Amino acid sequence: MLLNPVEKALMNNPIRAAIQRYGEGAALRRLGGRCDGARALEVGCGRGVGMRIIREEFGAAEIVAFDLDPDMVRLAGTGAYVADAEHIPEPDASFDAVFDFAILHHVPGWQRAIGEIARVLRPHGRFYFEEPTGKLTRMAAVRALLDHPEQGRFEPEEWFSAVENAGFEIQARRALLADRWLLGVATSR
Ligand SMILES: C[S@@+](CC[C@H](N)C(=O)[O-])C[C@H]1O[C@@H](n2cnc3c(N)ncnc32)[C@H](O)[C@@H]1O
Repeated sequence: MLLNPVEKALMNNPIRAAIQRYGEGAALRRLGGRCDGARALEVGCGRGVGMRIIREEFGAAEIVAFDLDPDMVRLAGTGAYVADAEHIPEPDASFDAVFDFAILHHVPGWQRAIGEIARVLRPHGRFYFEEPTGKLTRMAAVRALLDHPEQGRFEPEEWFSAVENAGFEIQARRALLADRWLLGVATSR
């Protein structure tokens, strides 16, 4: 689901970029380590800040990224294309790492998208993820300002089970802000 104008403004600004780099990105690196030399995929890359973080903070050698929104892809620039996380147009076992910076709560078939991420990762590849949960996206203020699909309002246990059911082994997992945010790193078998 595309972002509404309010959420687009919340995502496309320097404060969000700093939170993504020094908050979420740093936390994921502490949990899962760097992926030096990796061929990495970012799902839902937005305006491309994550692509720079993956290169500069995680050490990936090559980054491919996509987003459903053509405007975001234009901002992200080289290496980004338009696609849907439920149907990732990449071959099986073609990446060493996949990054999800807060996108799958926008995807009605988020379990299918996790399955697609498992498919495109090589054995022992790493899935880095961070997502707001239903406890956050159901809050009255969030509902009033932002649009999210009802099916994307998952809770931490539901998410971590779906990751395991897709064939991953979870290396590290956290639920923060009274279960309103989750993050972690999982390894494909
Ligand atoms: C909350 S924003 C996060 C953007 C960026 N990853 C960040 O952390 O700033 C969610 C992004 O997911 C994209 N998106 C929504 N549904 C998608 C889908 N089915 N497939 C790919 N991208 C999608 C939106 O266009 C948006 O750029």
